[in-house]
Order: sequence, then structure tokens, then C-alpha cells
Amino acid sequence: MDFNFTEEHLMIRQAAKDFAETELKPGVIERDEKQLFPKDQMKKLGELGFLGMMVDPAYYGAGLDTISYVLALEELSKIDASAAVAMSVNNSLVCFGLEKYGTEAQKEKYLKPLASGELLGAFALSEPEAGSDATSQHTTAIDKGDHYVLNGTKNWITNGSSASIYLVIAQTDVAKGSHGINVLIVERGAEGFSIGPKENKLGIRGSDTHSLMFNDVKVPKANRIGEEGFGFKFAMETLDGGRIGIAAQALGIAAGAFEMSTAYAKQRKTFGKAISEHQAIAFKLADMATEIEAARWLVLHAAWLKDQNLPYAKASAMAKLFASEVAMKTTVEAVQIHGGYGFVKEYHVERLMRDAKITQIYEGTSEIQKMVISRSVLK
Ligand code: CAA
Ligand code: FAD
Repeated sequence: MDFNFTEEHLMIRQAAKDFAETELKPGVIERDEKQLFPKDQMKKLGELGFLGMMVDPAYYGAGLDTISYVLALEELSKIDASAAVAMSVNNSLVCFGLEKYGTEAQKEKYLKPLASGELLGAFALSEPEAGSDATSQHTTAIDKGDHYVLNGTKNWITNGSSASIYLVIAQTDVAKGSHGINVLIVERGAEGFSIGPKENKLGIRGSDTHSLMFNDVKVPKANRIGEEGFGFKFAMETLDGGRIGIAAQALGIAAGAFEMSTAYAKQRKTFGKAISEHQAIAFKLADMATEIEAARWLVLHAAWLKDQNLPYAKASAMAKLFASEVAMKTTVEAVQIHGGYGFVKEYHVERLMRDAKITQIYEGTSEIQKMVISRSVLK
């Protein structure tokens, strides 16, 4: 493993950092309060190539590696975890699978506008009664010859109302269990497809989370990705990569809270000295710094394995598990270091604390990551 970043990695990290400071920071508190999706900012991220970072330039992507991707996500998540998750879903849950398993026609029609940021994508696996237990799909895609008829409800879908293209997982043949599941590309506006109201959330409030309802939606067979019955494996493989993105998001939330806490501790004085000179505070910062560094190496390791075409499912689960726990712990301590100021919105850390929580839940809860890791080590 090469521990040095290339010039290109450093440039991308800096570009993401600058974007976060100039484009995301102004208005991030208002977007959180009013649950506003960062629409204009996502458009600009697309123009800068951040929405199809790892996609081949032949399909309008930026042709970068996963290391670049996690460096960018970390920087954006320090400021705005809502924009970061919208970007992460488009890159790792939508573009990745379309590029790897889509037909040329699908790539031409759907991947190009998604990778260029012209359109946004969503990934719909979870259902009201199938979250962790993802094989228990109730949404059905009944085979009607040249098309499927889709019925059911998907829950908690990120980019739910902002997306134009949805990858929907559904059961075609119940008797075949997870081998009877398909993944279909559904366009916004398809007859019988409706979108529920925006969820009112604890954190990542700028991200638009909605349920999706399908009522006899006709989806052409040409919109199935991969072979018949490939949908569950597609979802699992996609999530292996997605979890690296969420791990980077969690790392960014933690690192953002740490940077703010360090700066604050150096200037806030109590009992005649900066609070950073009280050992209780200095040691909190030492613990935060150490845990963030460990999380960063797990994230970079998982990204590096993916770039080397080596197996990365266990490494990505470990990175997500650890980084999300670090994000939660670090942000709670960040609020503590800020005292009363930490409890009000202007100081940002209370938002980061609320945002951190979701990283332990979506793209597989911490318990599910432990299931993936333990199955791998016990195999
Ligand atoms: N890659 C390829 N295939 C895989 C796989 C992987 N990583 N993991 C499992 N499979 C295959 C298995 O090999 C098996 O196939 P065979 O029968 O041919 O062997 C099939 O899939 C079924 O696997 P399991 O028997 O292991 O299935 P399970 O019911 O025990 O579930 C699980 C496994 C890991 C718990 C899975 O259900 C899971 O990941 N659950 C969490 C779901 C999740 O992460 N949802 C996230 C939704 S997206 C999201 O959240 C986005 C966002 O917020 C931004
Ligand atoms: P459950 O599966 O009901 O789990 C409840 C609790 O039980 C959890 O603590 C869980 O870890 C634990 N548990 C469950 N099974 C076990 C077990 N076998 N062993 C030990 N513990 C267990 N999904 C999408 O498909 N696409 C999206 O874009 C998307 N975006 C999301 C955005 C937000 C803001 C949220 C909140 C969710 C999103 N999700 C999305 C759904 C998310 O992936 C699920 O919420 C998550 O996988 C957990 O499923 P669940 O909510 O049904 O919880």
C-alpha cells in the first residue's frame, strides 16, 4: 500500500475543501433548519465532476479512483453531510452498478446524465418491513414478457424527490428467494409511480428522504440490470462500495467536529487559561485525534483495496462500523468541549452530532456490519 497521495489526490481534496467552505458553508444552518435540499450546490458539484467521480470519461465521468472519492467526501462532510450523502448515493449506489453491469444502451441513456450531474439518481432497496433483512422484499416485479409490472412501497429513499432515475430492487420469483430478485431502472414520472412526503428527520435534514410508491408501474425488460435474478447480489455488491462512501462521510463529520473543537479550545478561556490547557479537555482532543486517524486509515485501506481490484467487502464494513462509531463519539465530545455554545446552532457541532447518528444506521446498521465482518472472519 502506497502511503503517499498523488498530486491529483491533493488537488481534489483541496477542491472539495474550497467548495465546502465557499459553496456549502453559507446557508448550511438554514438548510438544516428548513430541511432544504442543496439543489444549486448539487448542480455545481455535478459541473465540477463530483457526481460521477469514478465513472469512465467515455460516460461523462471524471475517471478518478476511490481514494480521490473518499478524500472529497471527507472534506464535504466536514461542512455538509446532507450534500455528501446525496453525492455518495449518486456515485456509489447508482453510477457504480450501472457502469459495471448496465448494457451499452442503459449506460448511454442513464449513466451519462447521472455521471455528468445533469440528473440525480436514487437507490431503492429498503421497505417498511425490509431494512436490515433486505432479502424479505415485498415489492414485486411480475414478469409480463417484454416488461415487468412493479407494485409496492420503498422506504427512506435518499434523493427521493430530487432524483430522476431510480434503481429499484423487487421480487420477481418468491420461490427462488434472494435469487428471484431483480433490479430495475425506473424513471421519475412513470405512470403509477408516486413519491411520499419528505421525512422530518433528526439529522441530515438537507437530504431529502421519501418513500416511493409503485402501483402497476410498467417497466420495460430492457431496464433490468444484469441477468434475471441478479438483483440481490447487485444490491449487496453495490453496498460493499457504498459503505466506503458512508465511512468517508462519517470520518468527515468526526474530523469537522474535531477541527472546530481544537480551534475553540485554544481560544476559550476559563480559570485564567485556554480550556485546551486543562488536561481534561486536552485528553479529549487526544482521544478524538487518535480515533479519527484510525478511522481514516480504515477508510483509505478499503478504498485502496477497491482500486486494486482486491476483495473489499470486509474492509468496507469495518471502515463503516468504526468510522460511524467514531463520528458519534467525537461529535458528542465536541458539543461538550463547546459547553453551552455547543448546544446552539451557530457553532455547527450540534448539527454534526445529529448528522453523525445516521451513519450508524443507513447502508447497513452497525449490527449488520458486525454480521458481515463476523461471517467473513468465521468463514
Ligand atoms: N456480494 C455479493 N453477493 C452477496 C454479498 C455480497 N457482498 N452478500 C451476500 N451475497 C449473496 C450471498 O452469497 C447469497 O447468495 P447465494 O445464495 O448464491 O450464496 C445471497 O446474496 C443472500 O445472502 P445471505 O444469505 O448472506 O443473505 P442474508 O439474508 O443473511 O442477508 C445481509 C445478508 C448482509 C444482512 C444483507 O441483508 C444486508 O446487507 N442487509 C442490510 C441492508 C442494507 O445495507 N441496506 C442499505 C439500503 S441503501 C441505504 O441505506 C442508502 C443510504 O442510506 C444512503
Ligand atoms: P431494522 O432492520 O428494523 O432494525 C432495527 C434494529 O434491529 C437495528 O438496530 C438493527 O441493527 C437491529 N437488527 C436487525 N436485525 C438484526 C440482527 N439480525 N441482529 C442484530 N441486530 C439486528 N434505504 C435505501 O434502500 N435507500 C436509501 O437511499 C436509504 N436512505 C436512507 C436515509 C435515511 C435518512 C434513513 C433513516 C434510512 C435510509 N435507508 C435507505 C434505509 C436504511 O438502510 C435502513 O433504515 C437500515 O438498513 C435499517 O433498516 P430498518 O430501518 O428497517 O431497521
